[in-house]
Amino acid sequence: MPNKELLLIPGPTPVTDEIKAALAAETWSHTDPRFVRVVTHSLEMTREMLGCQEGEVFVIAGTGTLAMEMALVNTVAPGERILVLSQGFFGDRFELLAKSFGVEVDVLRSEWGQRLDVDQVRAQLAERRYKAVTVTHVDTSTGVEADLEALVPLVKETGALFILDGVCATAAVEEDMSKAYQGNPAYKIDIVLSGSQKAIGVPPGLLLLGFSKQALAAREAMERIPAYYGDIKNWLPIMQNPGKYFATPAVNMFYAYEVAMQTVMNEGLANRYRRHRVIARALRAALATYGMRALAAEDVAAPTLSCVLYPEGIDDAAFRKALAAKGVVVAGALAGLAGKAFRIGHMGNTTLADFRLALTTMAEVLNDLGHSVDAEQAISVLDRVCQEK
Ligand SMILES: Cc1ncc(COP(=O)(O)O)c(C=O)c1O
Repeated sequence: MPNKELLLIPGPTPVTDEIKAALAAETWSHTDPRFVRVVTHSLEMTREMLGCQEGEVFVIAGTGTLAMEMALVNTVAPGERILVLSQGFFGDRFELLAKSFGVEVDVLRSEWGQRLDVDQVRAQLAERRYKAVTVTHVDTSTGVEADLEALVPLVKETGALFILDGVCATAAVEEDMSKAYQGNPAYKIDIVLSGSQKAIGVPPGLLLLGFSKQALAAREAMERIPAYYGDIKNWLPIMQNPGKYFATPAVNMFYAYEVAMQTVMNEGLANRYRRHRVIARALRAALATYGMRALAAEDVAAPTLSCVLYPEGIDDAAFRKALAAKGVVVAGALAGLAGKAFRIGHMGNTTLADFRLALTTMAEVLNDLGHSVDAEQAISVLDRVCQEK
């Protein structure tokens, strides 16, 4: 087994040595002024990344699912209705969540690998009023990126809250809550929810939320909600003054998060978004030389992960097991695609060198499995597409 695994699943993603070192540092008191500075700085960078200058950001111990739950229960009361725009497994999770909290829910589903039809969304929004509409920015089951340019105006025109699940996109794909879509100041994202373990590059364990003024007002309008730890009213004073206590913050995770967010800021958001798009496109083109086709068409395919269909005759378990034995870990596909495809993450602090290595190792495995491919050709495609303007 090689010393270092190359973790190319759709999250968690590889953790840099600098971030790992931060995790291993001495644990300070959560009220120590030095720790308060870490949290304050982390929140400032989160606010900048999400363009959430007018609302409030929250960074709290928990995972993406808790962030989904908090987005919902802090804005939608039991008995109110939401529309879920689902492009896969994680979109569907909003329906389950809504039902758990007695929230009425309608769901529009796309075929896996495709985007939702915008006309269908428009028609549904015309039929009924919704308190909120949920959209998964990148559905990790399919590798499809949602069309925010089309969806934000459609939803905001109705006055509903726009809730964006950024778990598989934040820090790799623009999620700018200050952006007025179509130049209309009323057409803005209301909530971005996310987790630490994907494009941010911290291990699992922290959730992120950005709430717009309208989303904060929705919480304000509800006297009580079915949450305590997840009630943003309990966290607002802490986010405004991290020296205060509500529930013990994950001290070392915050150290790691600060280093990771500084890495994001040092790269620059625009550069980071561009890097993800370019490498994603190049990797999919390189994999195509192995007869491996992404489920999503290139114009809707995500910058962060790809769901890749196997060529005829390649056994999923044998492929992934042999690859992992050589130190490259990819994930299986979900639901109806299990066995037919694998999922590869290309986000966070991964590098072009990582993908050259992954392609070389995949070629060894494919050749061993009797599917003859050429790693040099794939790598030359990877490099060429990366250099294209
Ligand atoms: C798009 C998306 N939403 C939500 C989640 C749930 O996040 P978590 O597993 O951190 O609870 C995931 C997890 O992979 C995801 O990819």
